Amino acid sequence: MLIEFTLNGATHRADVRPGESLLETLRERCGVTSPKDGCRPQGQCGCCLALVDGNPKVTCAMPAESAAGKSVVTLEGVPDQERQQIADAFAAAAGLQCGFCIPGIALRAKAITDKDPVPSREAIAKAIDVHLCRCTGYVKIIDAIELLAKAKRGEPVPAPCTDGRVGRPLARVNAGQSALGDRPYVDDMVVPGMLHGALVLSPHPRARVKRIDTSRARALPGVQAVLTAADVPGERWYGLLYNDWPGFVSEGEEVRYVGDVLAAVAADDRHTAREAATLVDVEYEVLTPVLDPVRALEPDAPQVNPTHANLLSRSVIQRGDVAAALAASAHVVSGTWATQRIEHLFLEPESAFAEPMADGRLRLCSQGQGIFDDRRQVASFLGIPEERIFAELVPNGGAFGGKEDMSVQAQTALLAHVTGRPVKLTLSREESIRMHPKRHPITMHYTVGCDAEGRLTAVKARMIGDSGAYASVGGKVLERAAGHACGPYRVPNVDVESLAAYTNNPPCGAMRGFGANQAHFAIEGCMDLLAKQAGLDRFEIRWRNALEVGDPFTTGQVLEKSVGIRKTLQAVKPHYDAAIRAGKKVGLACGIKNSGIGNGVEEWGKARLVVERDGTVSLYNGYTEMGQGLLTVLVQFAVEATGLPPSTFVPKVDSTFDLGCGQTTGSRATLFGGRAVLEAGAKLRADLDAGRTLADLAGRIYAGDVVTRDTTALGAKVAKIKTHTAFGYATQLVILDGDGRVERVVAAHDVGRVVNPALCAGQVEGSIHMGLGYALTEELPCPGGMPATFKLRELGVLRARDMPVVEVILVEEPEPEGPMGAKGVGEIGLVPTAAAVASALEAFDGVRRMTLPMKDSPAARAMSVGRIRAAT
Ligand code: FES
Ligand code: FES
Repeated sequence: MLIEFTLNGATHRADVRPGESLLETLRERCGVTSPKDGCRPQGQCGCCLALVDGNPKVTCAMPAESAAGKSVVTLEGVPDQERQQIADAFAAAAGLQCGFCIPGIALRAKAITDKDPVPSREAIAKAIDVHLCRCTGYVKIIDAIELLAKAKRGEPVPAPCTDGRVGRPLARVNAGQSALGDRPYVDDMVVPGMLHGALVLSPHPRARVKRIDTSRARALPGVQAVLTAADVPGERWYGLLYNDWPGFVSEGEEVRYVGDVLAAVAADDRHTAREAATLVDVEYEVLTPVLDPVRALEPDAPQVNPTHANLLSRSVIQRGDVAAALAASAHVVSGTWATQRIEHLFLEPESAFAEPMADGRLRLCSQGQGIFDDRRQVASFLGIPEERIFAELVPNGGAFGGKEDMSVQAQTALLAHVTGRPVKLTLSREESIRMHPKRHPITMHYTVGCDAEGRLTAVKARMIGDSGAYASVGGKVLERAAGHACGPYRVPNVDVESLAAYTNNPPCGAMRGFGANQAHFAIEGCMDLLAKQAGLDRFEIRWRNALEVGDPFTTGQVLEKSVGIRKTLQAVKPHYDAAIRAGKKVGLACGIKNSGIGNGVEEWGKARLVVERDGTVSLYNGYTEMGQGLLTVLVQFAVEATGLPPSTFVPKVDSTFDLGCGQTTGSRATLFGGRAVLEAGAKLRADLDAGRTLADLAGRIYAGDVVTRDTTALGAKVAKIKTHTAFGYATQLVILDGDGRVERVVAAHDVGRVVNPALCAGQVEGSIHMGLGYALTEELPCPGGMPATFKLRELGVLRARDMPVVEVILVEEPEPEGPMGAKGVGEIGLVPTAAAVASALEAFDGVRRMTLPMKDSPAARAMSVGRIRAAT
């Protein structure tokens, strides 16, 4: 059907397909990319917003033909002056992280401020209700919209910070460009001759593949390739720790979950590729899936993954004599805590782009959390040397651990390799939810004792986690849960066993907090129960047991430096006392989280500063920007080391240099990457101090390579246990209103050294948003092995109007092994949150909730998020 409409002031004619959405027309036919596709066709994330005849509309839910005769405006068509105001407002307020949700919100902000020049924070929160942001917690987005309103009223507003020294709120790299939707994500990339990819996924969690017939798909006009396992020239199986995950499941094998790939298609356009994928005929012999981790570990359970027994890992920590200590304890509590599977819900679904290069290499554009791991695995899959792949990071639209494993990189690369053409492959939201690993559901049985004064005597814990069909990093998550079993407390006797089991559920792997969140929900619950038994205040019992220098962490590591837990407790104490004095019901929880993977893993920070002929300095590093602000803080370290202004540095992540550092995980990129930048920067500074100018130094490369090899494996029989390089600490206070709703959260965090206060606080605010959802509303049950929902509204992620007031207090207890005292802050923000909410709810209604999410609570019922309608 031919339609005509006005787009950003110009007349457009488009021949649209039946059922085509306006978003598809804008992105695919008109080349307008500021509206992003976060959930098409659900209309539930707001990323695709446009103004249609002046009204904000989610274009993914709008049939293209309904735009006929109308005027459509996207950010590209907003007048220049207002574009600049939008860019500056979001940059100055640090109102974005990964940025994927922001163009939609920025256009909404224009509409809000056009209509109401002085909008209240409440009105803004309500007006952005259709928008989801998984990163920011909305606090700084609302700040940015207030700033925009001010600017439009002609009032003076602060300019984005350009002071790049450590400790200053330097505006995020590319902030303005991202806010306007001009910074391309992978799915925004278009090159001449590009093909579009699509995948065929298994509908069954467990079935034998009897036959794959691609003939009908191949016969569809516009299809250029249909590939299956038989077409893989190299090693078909890959994985981060074990090669247990096939890029394609072949005939004769079993599919192991509903995200397994059977075939991949490349076609001239996305629509044809997806249609062809539906024409691939797969015959299955459906088998009974193993869906319960306890059942999976029974001797007669079918083996889920052919490469490994169903027991993926067993982590054990034993110190002292727990039985004797419990017997001698004045108070003992025990119980079973259970946490749920949740979806990362990064707003940008997985996407990859690959194209043959003129020199014979393959260019791979990835949004993964470790592009060098992607390169290694793709090279093996294609059966070519790693050097034949030029990997390039396209900073992603959120990851939170969910983009560590390969998603579509291998299939996209193979399609490009076979066709000799550029190929882009982007998952739909449903495919994304089916495919990538989730947060582990873990069941934890705890018994904890203390003496008459409330001092902990022993912790016994038994944990079992559902790791799903593939190992991912599931064993390490359960290992980390074991290692954090005692929280930030001094415990002389410890007996922990933590198991990870394969099942036919979607895999579980890394997600922000990596096992520590689950363990804290249990141990902090035990602390509240002990406080009650011992007649102690909940603050007091934590203070008496808080770790200090010289105390052992759960793993037996004796802490030697930078132990900030007491400082965080002190920081919230006045708020705790004041809330209680005011008659409020409050909850309290503490947290500890490793910074750096540790546990015997060799860890690298690598950086190269390359002086370019145009007077800029390219700053290469090996870790991924995913909204956490890594590239900005690395620039700040470069500024400190060299004395050059931040505008000199152009951050880059690609395989020009061999800077593989593994995954951007474990709150370690700032810790190790920052040190590498300082080292490289010092060398450049030395040349500048010798009287050379940047022009003199053009072409010079300054290297920073730091390696950490001194951590020890869990349970290693060594003279000195050092499981982790560093730790972050936190105390969070949750204050309820008279109806039991979360009114305010006060979060004190020891970050070692505040590199960028705005970005640092933003990490904590975003974490608390995620932590409150985890506590109250988020879940992804998988009845029969299939996610119960793919609807964003039903996943329970909190909207802006559901967010309480969040007050962040940044505490500095410098980390000697960190760059200028800094340590990671990416994960710890939500480690104590669920426990603090449970503590507050018990104070409110006397019910101790031990299962997440606590959806029966008044706090959860008050949230405006949707609920899963299907039976769970
Ligand atoms: S992509 Fe349109 S609302 Fe999500
Ligand atoms: S900044 Fe909103 S989803 Fe990342």
